[in-house]
Parts: sequence; C-alpha cells; structure tokens
Amino acid sequence: MADFISGFWNMYVMVLVTLSILFCVFVLVSNMTKREKGPVELHGHVWDETLAEYNNPLPRWWMYLFWITIFFAIVYLAIYPGFGDKNAHRGQLSQYGTEMAQAEEKYGPIFAKYRDMDVLAVAADPEANAMGKRMFLTYCAQCHGSAAQGAKSFPNLTDDEWLWGGDPETIKATITGGRMGVMTPFGPVLGAEGVKDVANYVRSLSGLAHDSLRAQRGKEGFETNCVACHGADATGNPLLGAPNLTNKSWLYGSSEATIIETITHGRTNQMPAFGEFLGEDKVHLLTAYVLSLSKK
Ligand code: HEC
Ligand code: HEC
Repeated sequence: MADFISGFWNMYVMVLVTLSILFCVFVLVSNMTKREKGPVELHGHVWDETLAEYNNPLPRWWMYLFWITIFFAIVYLAIYPGFGDKNAHRGQLSQYGTEMAQAEEKYGPIFAKYRDMDVLAVAADPEANAMGKRMFLTYCAQCHGSAAQGAKSFPNLTDDEWLWGGDPETIKATITGGRMGVMTPFGPVLGAEGVKDVANYVRSLSGLAHDSLRAQRGKEGFETNCVACHGADATGNPLLGAPNLTNKSWLYGSSEATIIETITHGRTNQMPAFGEFLGEDKVHLLTAYVLSLSKK
C-alpha cells in the first residue's frame, strides 16, 4: 500500500537510506588500517609544543560497534519493511492485511446488496448513506472537509456546481480514476497590466465590483486566451475541469488578488484516484453518498 500519492517520495526515501548506509560502510572500510609491527609512528600533529599522538588504528571494539549499527540498520530495514510491499507479509502490514480480510468477510455481503442497485436508489438509502459517510470521513474528509463543504482548491461537493460533472457516471469516474485540473499560466503572455484587466473582466462576469475601463480592455484578452478552456460564454468546460466563471462559486476565491494570482501563475490541482485502492463496491457507495449531498 502506498502512503504517498505518487511513488516519488517512496523512491526518495529508499535511495537516501541506501546511500547513507553505503556511505557509513565506505567510511568504516577506508579507516580499517592494520596495526603495524614495530614502533608506532606519530601522527604528525603537535599540540602545546610537545604533545603528539600515536598513529594507531581505531580500537577494534569501537569499529565493531559501528559494524553492529550498520548490520542493525539493514535488518531493521528488511523487517520494517523499508523497501515497500515486497515484505508485506511481515510486521504491521500483515496485521492490516488480516484485518482487511476480516472486514471483507463481514461487510462483503452488505456491499454486494448495494452493488447491484442503481446508484440513485443507493443514494436514497439511509443505511447506505451512513456507510458512505463513514468512508467519506476516512478517505475524503481531509481534503473536502468533514461536511464535504470543500476549502480553497478543494471543491465543495454539496452544491450543484461541478468542475467535471455531477451525474452518477461522471462522479464515479472522478472517484475511480482521479482528476487533474490544469490551467496554464498567463502572466508572461498578458503582462501585469493585462492580467489585471482580464481579472476585472472575470469579476464583471459574475456581477462583482470591478473597474469597468479595465474590464472593457480585459474582454479581448479573455476572448483570445481563455475561451478555449472556459468556453465562449465563460461557463466552463467539464471535459477539462475548467470552472464556470459566471457564478458565485469559487474554487480559489473571487478577490481581485486571487484571480490575478490564478491568471498569472496558472493552477494545477489533483484529485487522487481511488478505484484500485477502494474497489468498485466502495466507490459505488461513495458515489451514492456524494450524490445524496448535492441532491437535497
Ligand atoms: C488529496 C486530496 C483529496 C482527497 C483525499 C479526495 N479528493 Fe476529491 N478532489 C480533490 C481535488 C483537488 C479536486 C479538484 C480537482 C480539480 O481541480 O479538477 C477533487 C475533486 C473531486 C470531485 C469532483 C468535483 C467536481 O466539481 O467535479 C469529486 C466528486 C470528488 N473529488 C470526490 C472525492 C471523494 C468521494 C473522495 C474520497 C474517496 C475524495 N474526493 C478524496 C482532492 C481530494
Ligand atoms: C488550458 C485550459 C485553460 C485556459 C486556457 C485557461 N484556464 Fe482558467 N482554469 C482552467 C482550469 C482547469 C481551472 C481549474 C483549476 C483547478 O482545478 O484547480 C481554471 C481555473 C480558473 C480560475 C479559478 C476559478 C475559481 O473558481 O477560483 C480563474 C479565475 C480562471 N481559470 C481564469 C482564467 C482566465 C482569465 C484565463 C485566460 C487568461 C484562463 N483561465 C485560461 C483551465 C484553463
């Protein structure tokens, strides 16, 4: 089981740990000098005019202690397991595995009952929603909030505004495969003044206070650069996850400063994929739960 969304940090930690251990071994080996027969030479450093030091190898017992720590690190790494799930049958992960198997046995039949029901019917079922809610609190709330109300950059799932679409199939596809919303930066294209003009035009679209002169100038910049994704009428494009800019619902915020930041630097936003991790049955229940939130 991956604890990170991408495999990058796993690799980062593994490489770092391996390099550290190899470095320790290298340092030890390069300091392993044999004690030579005959008189021991001096080190060459002299303190306080007469105080010199024999060039003796490091004491054996001292070296052994270091070797033991390295041995310990390798054994620990293998048992922990520090190199991913090849060792998943050991340690904590095996406990997780058996618990999952027990849960599967217990809840499997309950899931099966909902599996074959239409998702809209499941959405209307209180017991299914209670299960959906528990799963939502476990897997989704850290980003979307415990009441699914969202936060800056995390969409509110309780309203009727959707980036990608709010019909059952689309929501299921979102949860299963994840989503990546990408808006390219326009700072270099438009320049600071141009960005400010377009930002005022964007604010005018939803009836927010704006500088009308700037908005007028910004209209052209919008038509040239933005309609490809946000649509000619700026109501968004669910195929790209481009939001509607004409309503009161904002992913990042409606202040001029925030809109300027969005336009200047662009935005990249990711909803992780849950299909493989949760399996179809749980995704089915979660889809129903999300539907139940917005259909009130
Ligand atoms: C790591 C944070 C994170 C987690 C965890 C997460 N989401 Fe999301 N989710 C996002 C982000 C970010 C987006 C917006 C993606 C975009 O900008 O296109 C999103 C978008 C969505 C959407 C689409 C909303 C729309 O307007 O089209 C749905 C539905 C959704 N999430 C449901 C869920 C469910 C159900 C779970 C739990 C299984 C979940 N999310 C877990 C971050 C997360
Ligand atoms: C490549 C497609 C694309 C283009 C071109 C594009 N956008 Fe976007 N825009 C998006 C996407 C996708 C998002 C949502 C980003 C996310 O999911 O976090 C977005 C988000 C935004 C937001 C944030 C809305 C909110 O609810 O907070 C604003 C404002 C915005 N765009 C304005 C513009 C303007 C103005 C232009 C032209 C200068 C533009 N966009 C060009 C795709 C695009």
